[in-house]
Amino acid sequence: MAFGDILGPRPKPSDLQKKRILSGMRPTGKMHLGNYYGALYNWMRLQEDYECYYFVADWHALTTEYETPGAISGFIPEMVTDWLSVGLDPEKSTIFVQSAIPEHAELYLVFGMFTPVPWLERNPTYKDQIQELAHKDLATYGFLGYPVLQAADILMYKADGVPVGVDQVPHVEMTREIARRFNHLYRPIFPEPAALLTEIPKLTGTDGRKMSKSYGNCIYLSDPPEVMAKQVRQMTTDTQRPYKKDPGEPDRCLAFPFHRLNLPQARLDEISAECRKATLGCVDCKKMLAEALLENMAPIQERRRYYEAHPDAVLDIMHRGNERAREQARRTMAEVREAVGFSRKFQLWAL
Ligand code: TRP
Repeated sequence: MAFGDILGPRPKPSDLQKKRILSGMRPTGKMHLGNYYGALYNWMRLQEDYECYYFVADWHALTTEYETPGAISGFIPEMVTDWLSVGLDPEKSTIFVQSAIPEHAELYLVFGMFTPVPWLERNPTYKDQIQELAHKDLATYGFLGYPVLQAADILMYKADGVPVGVDQVPHVEMTREIARRFNHLYRPIFPEPAALLTEIPKLTGTDGRKMSKSYGNCIYLSDPPEVMAKQVRQMTTDTQRPYKKDPGEPDRCLAFPFHRLNLPQARLDEISAECRKATLGCVDCKKMLAEALLENMAPIQERRRYYEAHPDAVLDIMHRGNERAREQARRTMAEVREAVGFSRKFQLWAL
C-alpha cells in the first residue's frame, strides 16, 4: 500500500504537526542488501516527510537469544553504523536503543495485565517462529509476550505509521487492539497506528535461497566493492540457459531482481529483450549489474568510512537519540500512570 493511502496526502513542510513513524529492528549482525532494500531504504525516504523514530530492539533479541545474549550488545553499534551509512540522518530521525529507555519495560508490564493470552497464542507469526526456530526452547513467557513489548514500543511514541514487512503486520494489528483496550478500560490516550506495508523485493541470496546470515549467501552493505562484485559474479542466473547462445528468461534469473533495484525501467526492458534473444550473455549482464550496484553503494560506503573512522560520533548520536526518546517516553508513562491510577497524584507515598 502506498504511504499516502494510510497516512493521507503527503504533509507539506508548512504542516505544523508531522505524522510520526516508528520502526525497530533486532540487532542480529551486519545489514545485507535484503535488509537495505526490504527496510532501510524505505526508512531513509520516510524521514523526508515524517517525524521518524528508529530503534534497536535489543530486548526483543533477548526473547530468542536468552541463552547466549553476549553478542547482542556488540551488534548494536555495528547496526547503527549501517543505518547511518545508508543515510538515516540523526537531525531528522531519532535513533535510539530500546533497553536504554526503561519505560518500554514498564509499559509492557501494564499492557501485559490486560492482554488476553489467546490473542498471543493465536498470533500467526508466533506459530511460524516457534516452528522455524524449533532448535530453541521458545515455550517461554517472554517469547509469547513479544507482541506486547512491540505494542509498548509503538504506543510509547504514539506513532501513526509503522513501516514493517508482512510478517510483522499481525503485531501491528495486535498493537491496535491493545491501544483500543487500554483506551476503553482507562482513558483514551493512544492513537491506533497503521502498518505501512513495505514491499519486500524478491531478493534471494547468491545461491538462490533466502538471503540470510546463517546461509552465508549475503551481500553485506559493509562488503568492499571487490567483494560485492565477486558476489554478483557468483549469482545463479537462469539455470535453463546453459550456453550464451541459448535464449534466457529474466524471470528465472536470480540476478534480475537486483537489476530491478538498480536500473531504470527502460534499461530493464532492453536487457530482458536481449536476454530472451540470446544477444546478451550472463557474464556481461552481471558485469553491468555489479557496476550499477557499486555506483549506488558508493555514497553509502563513503559515509561508512566516515563513521568507522569516528566511532565516537556513532555513540554520540545514540546518546542524543536516547535522550530525545526518553523525554517522550517519560511523558507517555506519566499519562499512563495517571490513567491507571498509579501516579503521584494518587499516591502520597510516591518519591
Ligand atoms: N519485531 C520486529 C522485527 O522482528 C522488530 C520490532 C520490535 C519492531 N519492536 C518494533 C518493529 C516496533 C516495528 C515497531 O522485525
